[in-house]
Amino acid sequence: MTKTNAGINAGILSTGRAYPEGVLTNADLEKMVETSDEWITSRTGIKQRHRAAAGEYTSQFAVAAARQAVERARIDASEIDLIICATVTPDQILPSTACLIQAELGAHNAAAFDLAAACSGFIYGLTLANQMIRTGQSRYALVIGAELLTRYVDYTDRGTCVIFGDGAGAALLGPVEGDRGILAARIRSDGRYAEQLFAPGGGTRVPPTAETLSSGMHYFKMRGNELFKVAVRSMTDIAREVLAEAGYGAHEVRLFVPHQANQRITDAVAEKLSVDSEFVYSNIAMHGNTSSASIPIALDECLEQGLAKDGDLVLLVSFGGGATWGAVALKW
Ligand code: UT7
Repeated sequence: MTKTNAGINAGILSTGRAYPEGVLTNADLEKMVETSDEWITSRTGIKQRHRAAAGEYTSQFAVAAARQAVERARIDASEIDLIICATVTPDQILPSTACLIQAELGAHNAAAFDLAAACSGFIYGLTLANQMIRTGQSRYALVIGAELLTRYVDYTDRGTCVIFGDGAGAALLGPVEGDRGILAARIRSDGRYAEQLFAPGGGTRVPPTAETLSSGMHYFKMRGNELFKVAVRSMTDIAREVLAEAGYGAHEVRLFVPHQANQRITDAVAEKLSVDSEFVYSNIAMHGNTSSASIPIALDECLEQGLAKDGDLVLLVSFGGGATWGAVALKW
């Protein structure tokens, strides 16, 4: 049924986060591959990452994060009409993780689907939810980024295993009053970069067999150095575009929450944009790169710390495998 909020701004009403208790420190990794705390810290900013135990699965953390967001928004789960779960590490191929989350939440009036845009999944989800709310198709939309990346990490490959971690973050979107909410949102992709971060096996092209598993074809392979440069350029460009569309300059940003891929990427983008370092949020030291979960986890931490105040300009920017990238400018 078409709702009556067409033309109204969409905003983030509440957030939540959850991750496994298990932690893998740089010291732990030193015992697994030829690396050092010094190398990981200086090249990435990461000190530890959460890692799911055997038996844990993506939707557990997604549901926990989503429950917090729904409770904090003080709405009933039955009022949610859209659930987007951004993930490249779903519980299983069928059904979507979003449908599993829907059932657990009791959000029986929602349309639910998964969205695969790697580390940009949450920004893609926000962009879609924004449109659905603005056009009146949805009133309350739940956007979740949830990943158990460590299930696809090769712990003999030091180029990837030091980076990735597990977790989930959620945001509940709904109509907001006045000039608050999402001011501009843009998403992009370029499939020519597909093989810079990919899992060659496990799908229909190279179906899972004993052989593909033993040769590790289901693990993520990454050409990190090449991606690094594309990430800095793409994130900077798209951030400038959304800020221009929103009618603001980067010097007016009061909270910058980029995808937590690498501290050096965050620093380079912030510097190119001229966003003051006091407004740049980073939690990569504690979480590593959690792909689609990184921005909503970080945003939830920011809100807990009171870092977004009424009227503040908030900038979210992502880059990920695909390649995919995107940015959202919001007035808090
Ligand atoms: O989530 C969004 C998508 N992903 C990204 O945006 C990732 C972007 N890329 C990165 O974050 C970085 O490229 C990495 C952290 C993955 C790698 O850092 P880097 O500074 O680009 O290193 P590199 O790949 O150029 O490698 C430099 C050296 C190499 O040794 P040689 O050939 O110079 O002797 C690597 O073998 O560092 C070596 N190396 C390591 N040494 C110790 C690579 N990984 C490690 C490691 N420990 N873990």
